[in-house]
Amino acid sequence: MKTKLIKLDGDYEKKIEIAGEFIREGGTVGFPTETVYGLGANALDEEAVKKIFIAKGRPQDNPLIVHIAELEEIKSLVKDIPDIAKDLMKNFWPGPLTLILNKKDIIPDMTSAGLKTIGIRMPSNKVARDFIRASKRPIAAPSANISGRPSPTKVQSCIDDLFGKVDCILSGENSKVGLESTIVDCTSDPACVLRPGGITLEMLKSVDERIYIDKSIMEKPKSDFKPKAPGMKYRHYAPKASLKIIDGDLQKTIEKINEMVQNYIDDKKVGIIATDETLKYYKHGVVRSLGSREFPLQIAQNLFEVLRSFDDTEVQQIYSEAFEEKGIGIAIMNRLKKAAGFNIEKI
Ligand code: TXA
Ligand code: MG
Repeated sequence: MKTKLIKLDGDYEKKIEIAGEFIREGGTVGFPTETVYGLGANALDEEAVKKIFIAKGRPQDNPLIVHIAELEEIKSLVKDIPDIAKDLMKNFWPGPLTLILNKKDIIPDMTSAGLKTIGIRMPSNKVARDFIRASKRPIAAPSANISGRPSPTKVQSCIDDLFGKVDCILSGENSKVGLESTIVDCTSDPACVLRPGGITLEMLKSVDERIYIDKSIMEKPKSDFKPKAPGMKYRHYAPKASLKIIDGDLQKTIEKINEMVQNYIDDKKVGIIATDETLKYYKHGVVRSLGSREFPLQIAQNLFEVLRSFDDTEVQQIYSEAFEEKGIGIAIMNRLKKAAGFNIEKI
């Protein structure tokens, strides 16, 4: 398939209009958002949405999130908007927050994977909003990666995964948040977090202190486990090499990782995910830093690209440091644990 790559270096309005046109004609478009790059299609067009599943190799039981540019668009998509959803929108939209609500019949089963509910998000990224507006359609969009791989936060990663598989890729800035949106189920009372993200539990609790995180999402899923967000059951974000997390006191973590790296005669075959503070203590292996521990937002921003970067190396085994599960750290550890297939050694 021929993919049109649009660089927004001039004639902005015209180029956004071209991308919007692809959506109206039933095509697929990769586009930037503040969380991760998305792969969009007209959410109301079953045939168009099907193309997303095919391009990504995505399991059909995994529902998509519908993206809107203006608040009023939501009325045509959902049956009711509970007060908690209104409050969350007021506080965090546009932004990295998806709300699960009861869908209207206008949204085809292909988009919601047969569920009666739908996730809706209004992104804050300017290109994303202008593109949705130009398409004059609600846009269904999962992350723009091949299913199972880390989500793209740079246009080049979106190109690496999807060039030749989609109609158009809209080039924009790197994703500021770097992790997918926080998902809050507003069909239950109290509302419940199905996926942690840039809008942290602390921020959500400032709106309703009863909001909680579905406990099961931070633990290894049991074999018969059916998560409320179907996508959370799949192995995800995984680099090609196996990944193991070492979790404990930082000094001991460094010692433990160095000890395990000794088992590799060839330095090129083993990788380490470190931080700016610990980088200097690792003398062997392919070492990458996620950023400074003083700036967890930076760590979130870099996580997926660092995971992806090992795929261009000969590394077979990666060891990663862990992060405190508070604030954005909850979302960081959720993605890291999934990338590791819950292979964690507590020390
Ligand atoms: O930040 C984001 O949300 C990005 C950008 C592109 O907006 N999109 C994204 O989509 O992460 P995706 O498809 O990679 O992840 C969607 C997640 C899946 O885990 C899916 O199971 C869950 O949302 N989900 C979607 N609709 C749902 C629903 N009605 N009920 C429960 N979970 C739902
Ligand atoms: Mg995804």
